[in-house]
Amino acid sequence: MSEISAAITAVHGYVPEDRLTNADLEKMVDTSDEWIRTRTGIRERRILKGEGKGASDLGAEAVKGLLAKSGTKPEEVEMLICATATPDHLFPATANIISDKVGIKNAWSYDIMAACSGFLYALNTASQFIETGKYKKIVVVGADKMSSIVNYKDRSNCILFGDGSAAVLLEPNTERLGVRDAIMHSDGMGCQFLHQKAGGSAYPASIQTVENEEHFIHQEGQTVFKFAVSKMADVSAEIMERNGLTGDDVDWLVPHQANLRIIDATARRMKLDDKKVMVNIQKYGNTTNGTIPLCLWEWEDKLRKGDNLILAAFGGGFTWGSIYMKWACDPIQKI
Ligand SMILES: CC(C)(COP(=O)(O)OP(=O)(O)OC[C@H]1O[C@@H](n2cnc3c(N)ncnc32)[C@H](O)[C@@H]1OP(=O)(O)O)[C@@H](O)C(=O)NCCC(=O)NCCS
Repeated sequence: MSEISAAITAVHGYVPEDRLTNADLEKMVDTSDEWIRTRTGIRERRILKGEGKGASDLGAEAVKGLLAKSGTKPEEVEMLICATATPDHLFPATANIISDKVGIKNAWSYDIMAACSGFLYALNTASQFIETGKYKKIVVVGADKMSSIVNYKDRSNCILFGDGSAAVLLEPNTERLGVRDAIMHSDGMGCQFLHQKAGGSAYPASIQTVENEEHFIHQEGQTVFKFAVSKMADVSAEIMERNGLTGDDVDWLVPHQANLRIIDATARRMKLDDKKVMVNIQKYGNTTNGTIPLCLWEWEDKLRKGDNLILAAFGGGFTWGSIYMKWACDPIQKI
């Protein structure tokens, strides 16, 4: 690794106001609050309402707040990467739209699609640019309006997902803080178990695809669950071992929030005390690319300079990965 590392120097999140509770879902599909809580840990999710609103509206709110709290002028940002599974359009990139909405004019911007691992892929990608020494300010934003692709008649899926976004500012660090290591994986055989079939080039939108409900998330929950449990735990254990870390050395696990049982299994494998695990799935459900930065945002006033963080995710593709970082700043005023 070069002497320059990429450090998160600010984080900000945004979730829409409207809530979809388990009680609401009980009225929509054959389910119960008890079933949802015990199988997933989720109590409610946020939903972005409004004609023509998309992931960029969520992302723009997060980025606006990020720039304000870090005292960064939009024109200082050199690059913006948006991780999303629910882009506003297939093209142009949602990153471009976010940049336009917040007045970022001097940056180049693009999307990364890696389903629920997208934020980690984007963070790892952005880190490489910082480490070269050529880039000083990069925004990485995870934004998803999952409610746009959830079938609210499918009880096994509609209970899981919510809308949300959060963004981080990456800057160079020369104190050996920030991103220290990353392990990323993907395996395309996972496509069959978790995908949105229609709307792309293989199955363009047609009356038939709409009638067949092929624009919604298709997920074989049990299979995905088994892969998620083993892969997220494996990759977290692998990055700890590679960096000589034990459970005692890790201050925080920042896991993707898909199912509380997947998070618990990962924490157990890492031999981590529950108190060191960031969990907010009960409030937001699975916001896909929003989960990890939303956790960082919510916990930012507890994070101390030098804290060892393990970020871990698993998602459609399949994709999975882990990042080891040393937190680079003392608590920042939350706004
Ligand atoms: C979706 C998920 C919560 C389902 O939980 P599960 O314990 O695997 O449940 P199963 O799919 O085995 O279903 C068990 C039973 O509950 C029923 N069920 C499914 N959803 C239900 C709901 N919302 N309410 C009540 N019952 C439900 C099923 O129909 C099944 O009934 P049956 O036994 O009569 O056939 C779980 O598989 C999961 O979290 N998967 C991974 C999701 C994920 O992480 N996705 C994103 C990756 S980033």
